[in-house]
Amino acid sequence: MADRIVVKAAAGSYPVVIGEGLDVGGLALEVVKPCRAVIVSDDNVFPLYGESASKSFAAAGFDVATFVVKNGEASKNLDTVSALLAFLAGEKITRTDILVALGGGVVGDITGFAAAVFLRGIGFIQIPTTLLAAVDSSVGGKTGVDLPGGKNLVGAFHRPLAVFCDVSAFASLPAGEYSCGMAEVVKHGMIADAGMLGSLAGMTAAEICRRNVEIKASVVEKDEFDTGIRNLLNFGHTVGHAVEVLSGYAVSHGSAVAVGMTVITRASERSGLTESPCLETLAAALEIAGLSGECRYGADDLARAAMSDKKRAGNVITLVIPKRPGRAELYRMPVDQLESFIAKGLEP
Ligand SMILES: NC(=O)c1ccc[n+]([C@@H]2O[C@H](COP(=O)([O-])OP(=O)(O)OC[C@H]3O[C@@H](n4cnc5c(N)ncnc54)[C@H](O)[C@@H]3O)[C@@H](O)[C@H]2O)c1
Ligand SMILES: [Zn+2]
Repeated sequence: MADRIVVKAAAGSYPVVIGEGLDVGGLALEVVKPCRAVIVSDDNVFPLYGESASKSFAAAGFDVATFVVKNGEASKNLDTVSALLAFLAGEKITRTDILVALGGGVVGDITGFAAAVFLRGIGFIQIPTTLLAAVDSSVGGKTGVDLPGGKNLVGAFHRPLAVFCDVSAFASLPAGEYSCGMAEVVKHGMIADAGMLGSLAGMTAAEICRRNVEIKASVVEKDEFDTGIRNLLNFGHTVGHAVEVLSGYAVSHGSAVAVGMTVITRASERSGLTESPCLETLAAALEIAGLSGECRYGADDLARAAMSDKKRAGNVITLVIPKRPGRAELYRMPVDQLESFIAKGLEP
């Protein structure tokens, strides 16, 4: 039995189907007529799932081509997009054809961006193969790539035609990648669903995906183009981003977000902005997720690195502050108060 969630978007609603052993090609026929389908994947994922996805699309009547990129964030750049666009032009892909992103968030972001700009926009389908892509990046329509000057600096809003999440793919995830996705799951719980935090330990991967797609969808539906409430999804990400930068990206995104959420929650609790026992609830959920909130950087370094975050506007930075588990608010803080606030989040 597959679960199905419909996400509303200005350009048209799209289904997110979650299950095991999905017939992705057959499901695609619900949103697009048989056409040319270019499956974009990376060199880890394609050898594992490329053949079965290709066969499934071919069996449903699609004419399949494939484009495989090197795995990892280093591929998420304009050179890769350029090579993909040249491939699409060479294959004479038309506006009625589609791209299929088979992989994690890197493949999803590259493919979505290429689909957004090729011929001024063609359709694409997301087949997330990491927990992070399933619960976060495949939903919401943000696509884009990195520039030498920073992450995700080029992009477009381009909603997928559909998202097909086959949770059996998580079995082959490298150690640590599942926890990385769990950081976003804990974040969703902290901003929108305290009950889920309490039940995490007993939930299956499919249940986790379903609930988290619902949460992400409900936030992005209210603010598709990211001008307000969608900022709540940045909980833990300003300090988390600082940790990533200070570590030279040696600390994974999920581990950094776990630290960021912990520092902000402790600081908010000590500043009287948050009802205790918010920190306790967060710590328990992070433990189940296999993540630690311990921070090895000082408040001065963290504050300085956080200033380079996109969420800064002039002398004010917008932080996401938990009010209690399951509820968070945006909080505009003068940048000169950030360091002392972070320091409160580091005290033992
Ligand atoms: N568009 C958005 O809204 C949004 C939101 C959050 C994150 N992101 C982006 O997502 C990216 C991170 O995504 P990610 O964590 O999925 O990383 P990723 O795509 O790099 O995947 C992580 C690693 O796991 C491998 N892999 C993927 N699926 C596998 C599987 N089933 N079995 C074995 N190996 C597998 C990949 O090859 C890669 O080496 C970042 O670039 C981030 O900016 C985008
Ligand atoms: Zn994140």
